[in-house]
Amino acid sequence: MSAPWSPTSWRGLPIQQQPEYPDQARLADVERTLAGYPPLVFAGEARELRRQFAEVTQGRAFLLQGGDCAESFFEFSAGKIRDTFKVLLQMAVVMTFAAGCPVVKVGRMAGQFAKPRSANDEVQDGVSLPAYRGDIVNGIDFTEGSRVPDPQRLIQAYNQSTATLNLLRAFAQGGFADLHQVHRWNLDFIANSALADRYHQLADRIDETLAFMRACGLDTAPQVKETNFFTAHEALLLNYEEAFVRRDSLTGDWYDCSAHMLWIGDRTRQPDGAHVEFLRGVNNPIGVKVGPSTTSEDLIRLIDTLNPENDPGRLNLIVRMGVGKVGDHLPRLIQTVEREGRQVLWSSDPMHGNTIKASSGYKTRDFASVLGEVKEFFGVHKAEGTYAGGIHIEMTGQNVTECIGGARPVTEDALSDRYHTHCDPRLNADQSLELAFMIAETLKGIRR
Ligand code: PEP
Ligand code: CO
Repeated sequence: MSAPWSPTSWRGLPIQQQPEYPDQARLADVERTLAGYPPLVFAGEARELRRQFAEVTQGRAFLLQGGDCAESFFEFSAGKIRDTFKVLLQMAVVMTFAAGCPVVKVGRMAGQFAKPRSANDEVQDGVSLPAYRGDIVNGIDFTEGSRVPDPQRLIQAYNQSTATLNLLRAFAQGGFADLHQVHRWNLDFIANSALADRYHQLADRIDETLAFMRACGLDTAPQVKETNFFTAHEALLLNYEEAFVRRDSLTGDWYDCSAHMLWIGDRTRQPDGAHVEFLRGVNNPIGVKVGPSTTSEDLIRLIDTLNPENDPGRLNLIVRMGVGKVGDHLPRLIQTVEREGRQVLWSSDPMHGNTIKASSGYKTRDFASVLGEVKEFFGVHKAEGTYAGGIHIEMTGQNVTECIGGARPVTEDALSDRYHTHCDPRLNADQSLELAFMIAETLKGIRR
């Protein structure tokens, strides 16, 4: 029997990666204010995502998770949200149509603000300041004032999340995601590439299919005109998350209503730590990042704690090893999970194990490594006879130059052209689409 859980039972346990607020009274005030605000999502929606996760776990669908590494207060506009949403729709339609596989869409959006850091301080030219922890905590500018954690930022993050989610809901249900619009999801700046041709060919075939369905009187299903879109972020700031824990009036169960899905990062997955304690008690679908240091024993302990009922819709293991390392670690983890008969959704984060520093100093990722890690992930699952269920990527619909390589290659020298991320380098629309085509081909092979 596990100890009783409550929304505050994480307090007092060992906890990593939390900011130190100088004004604790103000912080407590803000926490109370947030707890009185309306939730962002409803329990019924989180339950629906759990149902869809179960479909993925059982090999009947594929999970696409994507969005910014860190959302920012500065880069907040309808155009940016729309463009990221467009690329996710494009990726999903490529996979759905080319591979005949339903795709569950989850944005790293509407709440993805807090960042775990590898060091508590940042040093520039001999000056040391507290690290930037995301706009929800402090400012990115390298000045003493900007790096002080400010509780008011929690409120701003909530407000931005609600506005973002409101727009996403409108896009998903208001006609924008109608399959008849499939040509219009392509972004102008990739109009003249081989990838764009490939996309438009696929879109032409979808148009033909829809015309055929219409002729047969079959195009009235709501799935043609609208889509389901879910949100997720790393549950890093537990005081923020606690403020959104609500009891579902239908079932009496607890949900964290700040997003549909929450995940635990690779740096905060200690089995006895506060983050695991908090997430074990909320009934949302949850993710855990699984990096190279994950032992088989820890993984089983985590699964025991987070998914004691072995529900196939509950737990998404997000594997992030780095290219060349998937084969060293994933087979033993899969074999342990299989031996113990646990049902989990396996997905691949091909970003966080592949961060490098370019000679110019920019943090970047080589697109070849990203593709390479996804291929290794599919390869290991094939060898083990298990299902590679999804991907988790950092991407944007903006025409950025943050990751090198791709079909229309970004070179190391070009990184400085449009490097806008507030944290890790993201795939641009070209690179995201190229990845989607590669995955669609692989999925097609598996499903045949
Ligand atoms: C992230 O997803 O932005 C992140 C920090 O990942 P990880 O916990 O896997 O390092
Ligand atoms: Co990141």
